[in-house]
Amino acid sequence: MTKRLLTGLQPSGELTIGNYIGSIKQVVNYEKEYETFLFVPDMHSITVPQDPETLHRRVREIVGMYIACGVSPTTNHIYIQSEIPEHANLSWVLECHSYMGELSRMTQFKAKSDGKKEIGCGLFTYPILMAADILLYKADFVPTGIDQKQHVELARNIAQRFNSRYGETFVVPEPLIPKVGAKIRDLLYPEKKMSKSAENPKSSIFLTDPEKAIRKKIMSAVTDSETIVRFDEENKPGVSNLLTIYACLSEITIEEAERHFADARYGDLKKEVADVVVEKLTALQDRYAEVMKSGIVDETLDRGRDYVRPIAQETYDQVRRLVGLGRV
Ligand code: TYM
Repeated sequence: MTKRLLTGLQPSGELTIGNYIGSIKQVVNYEKEYETFLFVPDMHSITVPQDPETLHRRVREIVGMYIACGVSPTTNHIYIQSEIPEHANLSWVLECHSYMGELSRMTQFKAKSDGKKEIGCGLFTYPILMAADILLYKADFVPTGIDQKQHVELARNIAQRFNSRYGETFVVPEPLIPKVGAKIRDLLYPEKKMSKSAENPKSSIFLTDPEKAIRKKIMSAVTDSETIVRFDEENKPGVSNLLTIYACLSEITIEEAERHFADARYGDLKKEVADVVVEKLTALQDRYAEVMKSGIVDETLDRGRDYVRPIAQETYDQVRRLVGLGRV
């Protein structure tokens, strides 16, 4: 049987080149090999306050971006999390099979709640909803950047726990983390990952950024005082990040990128990185404009919802019976 791959991008901000390299690009590479489920986890986004109109808009934009990036809208199942009620139903059942201790260890929760007086319960239990997203469709593989690895590991633990208590029910999913590009870094604070919700927009390259902004952000990216272009994530995170972006977008290895820039100064490195980013993103933005003008986003979402809902219903019904909910 064809293995299943599943992943999602939150509509909590404009997509960055980190989302493209860490997630979308992987999906484009794998989609011929696996049956692919791609969804927009909008229920995850309300774990922090959102403007409702913006959230509605972003849900459609994410789908448009998937398609513009080359994800096939006909062979993949593309859908919105909140249109399939079984995500929340299964999440509740899994919540009753999870522990406060394991959720307290999630580094993303610790980072997002750090220093906050009022911490939403959703922010704490969010990794369980993510486990439900994956287990509902019995996905074999979950491509993500490194930041989501711990959450996929939690999903594995919950699946194993449930299976050992009730018998084989869930597939235990494997994370697929790219060897290069699993953590594209913030341009100003390269010790952090590049994020959709960074405080300073100069920290991130957004997929919809115009050429001028892209060049300006890359030219002012933080490097170091050594002046030698080489890959060393620990001591030279800024330069290593620029090499990674260059290698990923040019489809070459890090070693090849290092050789290419062997005699270059940081200014030359930045200029060439900006050139490949601009080339990639302007082509993508042209396709994106076409996609958003056509009716393809809604057609794709309707088709995706109709295809995946019965799968979700079947899994949830199996789970409901196993744990004793409702009538037999
Ligand atoms: P999200 O929306 O923060 O990120 C979407 C995907 O992009 C990857 N990513 C990165 N990769 C490399 N470098 C970066 N700087 C970078 N920033 C983000 C993320 O690893 C992710 O793969 N909880 C998830 C969404 C989600 C999900 C799921 C994913 C909900 N349910 C089930 C997979 C399966 C999230 O917040 O990703």
